[in-house]
Amino acid sequence: MDHFEKDLVDALKDIVKAGNWQCVGDKSKLKSPCTKFYSDDGEHIVLVHTEDDNFWAMDSSCPHEDSLPIEINSSENTVCMWATKILNTPDPQEKVSLTKMVQENWNSGKITETGEAIPPAHPKRKDNLTVVEPGKIKRGKGGTLASRIALLHSLANIEQWAIDLSWDVIARFSTFRLSTGEPLPRQFFDDFVKVAGDEAKHYQLLEQRITELGSFFGALPVHNGLWQSATDTSHDLLARLAIVHMVHEARGLDVHPQTLSRFASQGDTSSVKVLEVIYADEITHVAAGLRWFTYICSQEGRWYVPLVKPSILQKTS
Ligand SMILES: [Fe+2]
Ligand SMILES: [Fe+2]
Repeated sequence: MDHFEKDLVDALKDIVKAGNWQCVGDKSKLKSPCTKFYSDDGEHIVLVHTEDDNFWAMDSSCPHEDSLPIEINSSENTVCMWATKILNTPDPQEKVSLTKMVQENWNSGKITETGEAIPPAHPKRKDNLTVVEPGKIKRGKGGTLASRIALLHSLANIEQWAIDLSWDVIARFSTFRLSTGEPLPRQFFDDFVKVAGDEAKHYQLLEQRITELGSFFGALPVHNGLWQSATDTSHDLLARLAIVHMVHEARGLDVHPQTLSRFASQGDTSSVKVLEVIYADEITHVAAGLRWFTYICSQEGRWYVPLVKPSILQKTS
């Protein structure tokens, strides 16, 4: 863009950022593209073709289920189709129910194919949530009932994002190929279906506890900060594993003892039990991230220590 005026480029960037963009899909996968797109303002639809061969549509929609631009074959029963369906489900309780169903069917062999799908750029959320900047959330220190509810509410929000992050890594990287040409083994999908199931269980436990304490999920503001890491790493599986699962989930483990002590000091044993279940599961999630990060590096003959450091510094700074 060297030959354009900086002011013009900045103005165009502002317009692009202000628009509501939807990924229409990868050029090679558009076997049955939607012909029913309409623009929100009734004017022409703006389509952008990016270097990675995806098409993006601005301020437009289509009448298909969940606004997916590519019609889903109703007989399709792949884990990626379900992953995308769950990402497009705004109600967290429905997200949890679908996640459990898919986990059971994957484990029992009723779903056998991984398939391929194009996950949404941003998972759906219920309209009644008040979304604020990450730094604006008041978590408190657990010294009062209101403060404990706020802590649990904040954790429930994180778990809802964690459900989506698990399905996103499955759908977004289902067609990933190692430099050797090999696809990811089935155990990769086993691991992240299990992680998704755990995150759904965590959300459900926290929501139930918030209700027992007289509140409900959505009563307090939430933030969408966790999804920024998904966006930053949407084209790089190694970065996704490193940043989301080996850094963010590990950070969660680091602060866990302090969080647990806040509830224990108030005699809130029911919340302590919930947090202990979460802690035990989260250790396995960090392990899954590390397992697949090292698997890819070893298969591709990469020396992963120098690889991960600049990646983490860049993405988490
Ligand atoms: Fe979790
Ligand atoms: Fe987790």
